[in-house]
Amino acid sequence: IPVASFDYVVFGATGDLTTRKLLPALYHRYKDGQIPPTSRIIGASRSELAVEAFRARTRDALKRFVAADDLDEATLAAFLDHLDYVAVDGAGDDGWPDLVAKLDERPDQVRPFYLATSPDLYGSICRNLAKFGLVGEKSRVVLEKPIGKDLKSARAINDAVGEVFPEEQIFRIDHYLGKETVQNLLALRFANTIFDRLWTADVIDHVQITVAETVGVEGRAGYYDTSGALRDMLQNHILQLLCLTAMESPLNLDANSVRDEKLKVLRALKPITAGDVQQVTVRGQYVQGAVDGKPVEGYLNELGHDSRTETFVACKVEVQSWRWAGVPFYLRTGKRLPQKLSEIVVQFRAAPFSIFPEESFGREPNRLVIRLQPQEGMKLEVMTKDPGPGGMRLRPTNLDISFEETFKQRYPDAYERLLMDVVRGNATLFMRRDEVEVAWAWADSLLKAWADRREPPRAYPAGSWGPTAAIALIERDGRTWHEELR
Ligand code: BG6
Repeated sequence: IPVASFDYVVFGATGDLTTRKLLPALYHRYKDGQIPPTSRIIGASRSELAVEAFRARTRDALKRFVAADDLDEATLAAFLDHLDYVAVDGAGDDGWPDLVAKLDERPDQVRPFYLATSPDLYGSICRNLAKFGLVGEKSRVVLEKPIGKDLKSARAINDAVGEVFPEEQIFRIDHYLGKETVQNLLALRFANTIFDRLWTADVIDHVQITVAETVGVEGRAGYYDTSGALRDMLQNHILQLLCLTAMESPLNLDANSVRDEKLKVLRALKPITAGDVQQVTVRGQYVQGAVDGKPVEGYLNELGHDSRTETFVACKVEVQSWRWAGVPFYLRTGKRLPQKLSEIVVQFRAAPFSIFPEESFGREPNRLVIRLQPQEGMKLEVMTKDPGPGGMRLRPTNLDISFEETFKQRYPDAYERLLMDVVRGNATLFMRRDEVEVAWAWADSLLKAWADRREPPRAYPAGSWGPTAAIALIERDGRTWHEELR
């Protein structure tokens, strides 16, 4: 569906996120014919850059971050023509009249302001947008995560932004919501009747959510060390996955209907206290090891100084609701794990009774595995009979859908969908203020419990599945992590 003509202003135009994600995503949307001819993408940052220099940087970035098959010179050149640039100090006074003049050239455009900057600047940039008369009916503001580092700082940011923009014009990005498989979770649950019947504590034994990465902290150690895995991944991406898995059916796909249901799940999360933190959570930090057969340094070496920041977290959480009482959700995420793998595993209860001879029955429970990456898809693990005349021997087999093979098309990056949804004014896949704050209130309970115990994170070798305590966390309950082998 084509969108209205827009001027997308990207603050932090020379930063990592813009270069790696936003510009490649906009290029793809352009290539697919979704960017109207009168639209502009206006880079804004403090660097004094000529428009030509910004276009040249973008050309280099696209060559690095867009697959060669998707790049052709004519499309690239035409896309670059849509780029403009203004040197403006987002939080200060310089450059604003230039931005105003540029935007005044096309007063009827939809005007998203994407703040790909440090969250400390969100409030000041918004105040400047108001001061220079850039906030109107057609403007929107897009905020990248993290929105703060705890409830208090998140509230301060939300207050500052909320003084300038009404909630309907604020788009808080959690890019996991833009991933195709995450949206497919809505289709799976609410466009099929079979799963909803099974989505109850009577049938489901537990749920696991894993977001594993092979990368370390890359060039972001400065940010990451003040954050850690809980703030960087669990408070947002993983809790959002949990919400979509656990929520009740929304009335429709309107932003508030969906967000009302997610909010109920967040409100139902049992806070973690100092009394149970040791039983239900594990913090880890990677030390030297090997990933993909290549030796890699430990976190502290990469950082160059001592630190207690966790690069891995696992926890067992409870959703205190009628539907989920007694069904644990095991969550884990970490850097420098053996493979890049994000999946949600819904494990059903084991068969209550066996009619099969003892030696033939694997007793594997059914599992529904929703894979976000790599190879987006879903599979249902079912028990089947081994073929052949050898008697009744059973083994687990998969009913497997690979989305790429089934639909034979490129899977768009999460940002492609989200950037265009902002222009459309569709906030269904964005976080509302109350969601972010309730998620922080829960994360704060965990941060406080950790702080009270003052324990250092447990070491795990890079390339392993985290500290052994994370394995013990689930095995204590007679369960195991689902580990997909490459
Ligand atoms: C970001 C985190 O939000 O998500 C990064 O800040 C992390 O630390 C990234 O690497 C993971 O995203 P994806 O889409 O690669 O799974």
